[in-house]
Amino acid sequence: MKKYVIRGGNPLEGEVRISGGKNAAVAIIPAALLVNGVCIIENVPVVNDVILLTKIMSNMGAKVSFLDKTTLRIDSTEIHTCAAISELVRKMRASYYLIGALLGRFGNAQVGLPGGCDFGVRPIDYHIRGFEALGATVTIEHGIVNAVAENGVKGTSLSLDFPSVGATINIMMAAVLAEGTTVIENAGKEPHIVDIANFLNAMGAEIRGAGTDTIKIKGVKELHGGRYEIIPDQIEAGTYMVMAAATGGRVKVSNVIPKHLESISAKLEEIGVTVEEDDDFITVSREPSQIMNKVNIKTLPYPGFPTDMQPQMSTLLCLANGTSIVTEGIYEHRFKYVDELRRMGAKMDVDGRVCVITGIEKFTGAAVTACDLRAGVSLVIAGLCAEGMTEISNVQLIERGYEDIVEKLRGLGASIGISDDEPQISEKTGENAG
Ligand code: EPZ
Repeated sequence: MKKYVIRGGNPLEGEVRISGGKNAAVAIIPAALLVNGVCIIENVPVVNDVILLTKIMSNMGAKVSFLDKTTLRIDSTEIHTCAAISELVRKMRASYYLIGALLGRFGNAQVGLPGGCDFGVRPIDYHIRGFEALGATVTIEHGIVNAVAENGVKGTSLSLDFPSVGATINIMMAAVLAEGTTVIENAGKEPHIVDIANFLNAMGAEIRGAGTDTIKIKGVKELHGGRYEIIPDQIEAGTYMVMAAATGGRVKVSNVIPKHLESISAKLEEIGVTVEEDDDFITVSREPSQIMNKVNIKTLPYPGFPTDMQPQMSTLLCLANGTSIVTEGIYEHRFKYVDELRRMGAKMDVDGRVCVITGIEKFTGAAVTACDLRAGVSLVIAGLCAEGMTEISNVQLIERGYEDIVEKLRGLGASIGISDDEPQISEKTGENAG
């Protein structure tokens, strides 16, 4: 099984270019099913979830091909089925977007229930209630969501119980070709929600208000083909910003939209890290001798502090002076990675949605296992600044959302390699057992 092997202690120095947004891409790609034409999508991150989606859509009759490393061509003029029930669908959460896209285009969808990171129960009831409000009958049988709008999708007004990212996007997709207008109240405001709305408008949709808590979608007859560039990944950017701070280096994080990173930049500055913003890049630095201050964090929907940065920031706070409190405001159980960080010396106590973090002098290298995408990259962060060697297994989970992470880190001076053989780390010393 593929592993990363990291020798800690190198301050990261240099420039890293951020890839296209993973959570934008895994929504925009299925949204191309709504288009009776050819979409050219640029700045696509080449990560496992994207590759998986292209396979699922090809199996449905879409003609999908990469024109270059990050440009995808999708021709959805000849979709021959409204069913996506293969085991591929269960490998990711974003496969639920196939329901909204198929329902929106054809009034009919049979899609396997999604999988994805395990943070406790992750229902899709908000999505289903939205589809029903649009006139669909939705049943779930044998693990398959069956959504049918016999009289076509009809515009409506609805309010979400919670500003769910996925439900906001999915209902928007189901409504773009509806008869009449749809209004979504208490909508999510994340940058990738705006990105999907901009993509759909570029293809002829009439969506207004994305990025606010009220989105209005005026149904149109058809969407035409076109070209669109995905926004940079704000979570990947935030992750490299934290890595620069954790290792006591200086990193220029380029190809970013600073506004999307405001809550992350603000927290890093509160900790005592230097953050210099420019038009499309941010430079993050910390002198190795510079003490980091403890801070408290609560994750919230955008523009609050993002839950997808909670594991990374909690890892950094393990090295801060004093006791920090991190509250997970979005998921029930998003601290499963703490057990693995404890193996590297972390002092973290979890009680439900709250984690109390007591600062330590340093992490020590160990053999650890990634349990989900962001938890996995947090082990990379700890390994980069640990004393000795760290070996991380289950790294395919990390590669679901971080394009070329090993190459990018090597470009910043990290000592990181990929190993396929037996454990290299001796349990006792954390040194290379070879
Ligand atoms: C998206 O998940 C992201 N995934 C997640 O990123 C991210 O953590 C999350 O948004 C919040 O920002 C993708 O975009 C593929 P939600 P999603 O609907 O859409 C509950 C990553 O690391 N809920 O905003 O599933 C849900 O259980 C991943 O990139 C319902 O109860 O998030 C959660 O507690 C991890 N019923 C809360 O709402 C529903 O129908 C927020 O979920 C839907 C959600």
